[in-house]
Amino acid sequence: METISFFDGRKIPLERHKVRIVQQLNLLPVEERLARLKEASSNLYLLHNKDIFLDMLTDSGVNAMSDRQQSAMMRADDAYAGSESFFRLEKTVQDIFGMEHFLPAHQGRGCEKVLADLLVKPGDIVPMNYHFTTSRAHIERCGGEVIEFLIPEGLNCQSDYPFKGNFDTKALAKFLEENNDRVPFVRIEAGTNLIGGQPFSFGNLKEAAAICRKHDIPLVMDASLLQDNLYFLKIKDEECKDLSLREIMRAVADECDIIYFSARKLGFARGGGICMRESELVNPLKELIVLNEGFLTYGGMSVREIEAIAVGLEETLDLAITSQGPEFIAYMVDELEKRGIPVVTPAGGLGCHLDASRFVPHIPQEQYPAAALAAALYIAGGIRGMERGTLSENRDDDGNEKIAEMELLRLAMPRRVFTLSQIDYAIDRVTWLFENRDLIGGLRFEHEPKILRFFLGKLAPLSDWQERLAEKFSRDLPDSL
Ligand code: F0G
Repeated sequence: METISFFDGRKIPLERHKVRIVQQLNLLPVEERLARLKEASSNLYLLHNKDIFLDMLTDSGVNAMSDRQQSAMMRADDAYAGSESFFRLEKTVQDIFGMEHFLPAHQGRGCEKVLADLLVKPGDIVPMNYHFTTSRAHIERCGGEVIEFLIPEGLNCQSDYPFKGNFDTKALAKFLEENNDRVPFVRIEAGTNLIGGQPFSFGNLKEAAAICRKHDIPLVMDASLLQDNLYFLKIKDEECKDLSLREIMRAVADECDIIYFSARKLGFARGGGICMRESELVNPLKELIVLNEGFLTYGGMSVREIEAIAVGLEETLDLAITSQGPEFIAYMVDELEKRGIPVVTPAGGLGCHLDASRFVPHIPQEQYPAAALAAALYIAGGIRGMERGTLSENRDDDGNEKIAEMELLRLAMPRRVFTLSQIDYAIDRVTWLFENRDLIGGLRFEHEPKILRFFLGKLAPLSDWQERLAEKFSRDLPDSL
């Protein structure tokens, strides 16, 4: 593999791109950060972007585009039906995944909606390695239930197991022996989001696919985070290490019946789509796409984005490009670990994940420790992360709080957006916060939406801990913003 080593022995990731368009960032003084947090009801989704210094909320739709993507966008062919831009993307998808059909959608959850509408009926069960918030919400909306078959190691935050996104294939096989008549499809998620961007191995994918084939149940892959999973297959999986990313991509696709993705992640642009082989599902899905997303040659996407996705998918197969995210994440995880700060290991894709259950163990899960940590980090550094814990769950049918299996604060790493000194700044502010973790307190809901409550919920701190944290920051770093 093509590595670049430093003569002085340092091990730091090196950017393989140069910056040619920049966006000015604004770092508010700590008192103002506190005021903006209050206005946003301690929910970082409700902040204005101009008030954020490092936006590590997500990598969705905010990865940097390449010059080649930008130039492709200039030749976009605007047409309601029959756009050449669409046919270029369709051809790229067919080449990369080796699947005949490509159905466009406005983003990942658009794909999830039409798949659930067509395939899931009340009483059905969809097994998966792990759920994602929107995928589960659509299955439940159609009366289905999600059951997870993740290997136990997947939920262990301190691990060195390289493939924590693997299916527990023994349990999956047993379940399908007994319940296959209630299972419309099995879903496997690449770069499993909610457990810290953790990959599956190629052998595990093949086993899961063989089990599905035995029962004639379609295997559906959520490939939104496949880019990172490909990278880990290349560098950690014996079966893949001598293959190119293109060959790995094709080998992965060959095991699946349907692949859908959010092109806000895979493809470095904004959109989504479903790839599939010829089957009786193609025509009914096309009808649902037309009804919900848009005509079959745009599916809710702008033609400019369609051009950018076509180029972005090709760029995903370049290791110098794909490695940037995971290498930056590994750097951040290693540096935090050296300082004794609890992070999810091994470093995965998508972002660096702080383990809030060890960072703020004094906050009970009913008081949303990961969300409290997110609010605290905004005060400490103007950094916006994303809560992935109990706040991201829905209450059960009786209104009881559903306690999450993991309490994580995700610090996403949009690809090619931040420099290493900005990551060093984030590491520094997390370190300050860890030193002052006893000051962080819990949160409670003031307004609680019924589903996906983390997006729009309004929260309040349970004491004046936010004021005390801001005061301590001013005392410790009197000359700094
Ligand atoms: N599947 C996975 C694995 C995802 O990570 C996402 C989005 C979706 C589906 C839905 O795609 O947003 O285009 O509708 N994840 C974003 C995130 C929201 O920040 O992790 P979408």
